Amino acid sequence: MQHITKRFAGYSALEDITFDVNPGRFVSIVGPSGCGKSTLLNMIAGLLPPSSGLVDIFGEPLAALNRRASYMFQQDALLPWKTVLGNIQLGLTFRGQTGPDAAGEAKAWIERVGLQGFGDRYPHQLSGGMRKRGRDRHFRHSRSGGSHRAL
Ligand SMILES: Nc1ncnc2c1ncn2[C@@H]1O[C@H](COP(=O)(O)OP(=O)(O)OP(=O)(O)O)[C@@H](O)[C@H]1O
Ligand SMILES: [Mg+2]
Repeated sequence: MQHITKRFAGYSALEDITFDVNPGRFVSIVGPSGCGKSTLLNMIAGLLPPSSGLVDIFGEPLAALNRRASYMFQQDALLPWKTVLGNIQLGLTFRGQTGPDAAGEAKAWIERVGLQGFGDRYPHQLSGGMRKRGRDRHFRHSRSGGSHRAL
């Protein structure tokens, strides 16, 4: 990130943030509530444009969604009108995978995360931990493929 600034309607949430993350490094961003952690991650994920500055991913300026990122939102991001299976499949659809193969892969993930028997439940019918496992699969699938990368 190079000289990143983010303003919301005149309020400056982040001011001139610059740092590099070398490949293979594990990095934590720590700070008090409201200091801008989620704002920073949203910009690295390509969901929020910086007001100024540059986000560089593996040497390329980020101009849209960061397809190399897996991102688990702070807030629950499962679609309430879709079942567990539907939510997981949606991530595959975003990746361009549809049809019987996608359905099979989504079902396999349900088993891997211990949600077997819950594929036709809606998010409000799950426990907090179950929702977390569902949304993790949902967003990992949204990536373009390949190995999991740090943001
Ligand atoms: N969409 C928005 N519109 C206006 N202000 C916003 C918006 N999003 C975040 N902010 C403000 O920007 C600042 C940083 O918010 P952010 O959500 O990044 O904090 P955080 O470090 O993730 O906090 P927490 O630890 O509570 O999750 C806060 O003051 C917040 O009120
Ligand atoms: Mg936050």
